[in-house]
Amino acid sequence: RVAGPGALVIFGVTGDLARRKLMPAIYDLANRGLLPPGFALVGFARREWEDDDFAKIVHDAVRAHARTPFREDVWERLADGLRFVQGNFDDPDAYRRLADTLGTLDRERGTGGNHGFYLAIPPTLFPVVLEQLSRTGLADATDDRWSRVVIEKPFGHDLGSARELNALVNSVFPEDAVFRIDHYLGKETVQNILALRFANQLFDPLWNAHYVDHVQITMAEDIGLGGRAGYYDGIGAARDVIQNHLLQLLAFTAMEEPISFEPTELQAEKIKVLRSTRPVEPFDTTTARGQYAAGWQGGLPVVGLLEEEGFAADSTTETFAAITVEVDTRRWAGVPFYLRTGKRLGRRVTEIAIVFKRAPHLPFDQTMTEELGQNALVIRIQPDEGVTLRFGSKVPGSGMEVRDVTMDFSYGQAFTTTSPEAYERLILDMLLGEPSLFPGNEEVELSWSILDPVLEHWARAGRPQPYEAGTWGPSSADEMLARAGREWRRP
Ligand code: BG6
Repeated sequence: RVAGPGALVIFGVTGDLARRKLMPAIYDLANRGLLPPGFALVGFARREWEDDDFAKIVHDAVRAHARTPFREDVWERLADGLRFVQGNFDDPDAYRRLADTLGTLDRERGTGGNHGFYLAIPPTLFPVVLEQLSRTGLADATDDRWSRVVIEKPFGHDLGSARELNALVNSVFPEDAVFRIDHYLGKETVQNILALRFANQLFDPLWNAHYVDHVQITMAEDIGLGGRAGYYDGIGAARDVIQNHLLQLLAFTAMEEPISFEPTELQAEKIKVLRSTRPVEPFDTTTARGQYAAGWQGGLPVVGLLEEEGFAADSTTETFAAITVEVDTRRWAGVPFYLRTGKRLGRRVTEIAIVFKRAPHLPFDQTMTEELGQNALVIRIQPDEGVTLRFGSKVPGSGMEVRDVTMDFSYGQAFTTTSPEAYERLILDMLLGEPSLFPGNEEVELSWSILDPVLEHWARAGRPQPYEAGTWGPSSADEMLARAGREWRRP
């Protein structure tokens, strides 16, 4: 799958995302031979740069962050197609210059009139940029030329604002030209959930309420929020991660088999799951919300959120969020899905744990099974990518003592090819016009309708509970599971 002719325009090209993720991903795609020779990358920003300044920034970003080795010939070819357009986002002249630049590239470099517009800018700027793209005709596609837009979250801050945003975007680009990035869907290990579930006979018979006790979906990070106040304050962990990444992981875990991997089929199954998912009440006891206080991380003292630069001293932004949801289908009736995420937790790990019910009967002396837990299948999304199966086994010796052991599959050992970075896969898919890994407007709206009632409850519930940095979150999170006789995994 090699992309056809095209140019990608990045708005907000001076930002962190462009430097750390987008530019390196484009170089890696070129290096893997997945971009056509005439590919062009156009930066658009307010900064007073020339083409050469832009090329230097791209070069440095590639050197610092690309996954694949630096090759002079690949770089030269890419560098030939770099252009910079300087201007304010609301300045019609700047868009005329952009249209001229693209026109020249189409003629001279063979980009064929196919243009992608990557809005790596805050959503408050979307209206002006979309309006200008529409006015200059750049958003128009024809039968043989495509025009697509890529947007990054936040896709609104609740259902109402998400609907407005979708309406705005869809007023300029038809839904099949809109590519919303949820970078988790670009991860190999997330796509592997589908392979694990639908390529094997082994797991499916157990994948339901008869055998599954509960599911835990965790995305834990050890980093704090120093330097990210501008984006994060007032947003918080639930909007930042649960609304998108965790509910998408839930959808992959809980959905029925799609008829095929055609985009509409996969989306249809995800939509069905999200439509049947509801947060479990009463939220006082089924959810938890925390904010990190000072503590220790990696042997070093770290400050609490309220001391981080840019956060108001009385900020009520949560840095830890956990919710309980249930999926009202025959397959999942009564099985709680616990979703949690947080900053400054014990370690960086994302995983999905399917925890099975206990065996209905154990023909062992009780003292022999004290270290036998529940069977579990753990899909390790990152950083130690793989799958773990936990089950009981006889401890060697003369008695019949049984305790938990694990069986591991690790990507690093099973495969020699390195996984592409999520953004590589997603940018390639966008250029190919392949929408499977991009959540559609309906999924975004459904995710908000699952989360909104919890957010409304929290808005009335006062401050989030402090937790010490480097621990696994507030005590209310532990209590939330303890009430049901369960506990969180400590990955
Ligand atoms: C982003 C969130 O979507 O994902 C960040 O906005 C978070 O807050 C990041 O740090 C984590 O991504 P990854 O790929 O490192 O798990």
